[in-house]
Amino acid sequence: MKIAIASDHAGCELKEGIAAFLKEKGIDVTDYGVDNPESVDYPDYGIKVADAVSKGRVERGILSCGTGIGMSIVANKFPNVRAALCYDMYTARMSRLHNDANILVLGGRLLEKEVALLMVDAWLKTGFEGGRHQRRLDKISKLEKGLYNNNN
Ligand code: RB5
Repeated sequence: MKIAIASDHAGCELKEGIAAFLKEKGIDVTDYGVDNPESVDYPDYGIKVADAVSKGRVERGILSCGTGIGMSIVANKFPNVRAALCYDMYTARMSRLHNDANILVLGGRLLEKEVALLMVDAWLKTGFEGGRHQRRLDKISKLEKGLYNNNN
């Protein structure tokens, strides 16, 4: 599996830890930065990962900023992206089971590294349940294409 990863300054330390964890597992990681705590604008980095996932250059993405909120807003502007801001094991698993999330977003100022790595591991191992959840994702795809009928 190919994974793209990026952060702003506030998510940098966590992102570095996650990148090392993924590489140790033999996963092909494309790291779009940043690699230091100098202040940057999160959209400049979020779009790199979201674009790679949106266009199918990588299967999954992981983003981190201070809260995870800014990166989530950016990533979900891209077609085919289902970015999930997760804050514990439950949300990490559910974002895969029910939402087929292809980008995991984590708050670097909220999560301990050990917890975040467990979340990443669970997120990578958990499959999508499909069924009624696929029907719901199909509606989101329609919405993206401007085809969603509000009378549904
Ligand atoms: C940076 O201070 C902070 O605003 C950013 O990392 C993120 O939390 C935005 O949503």
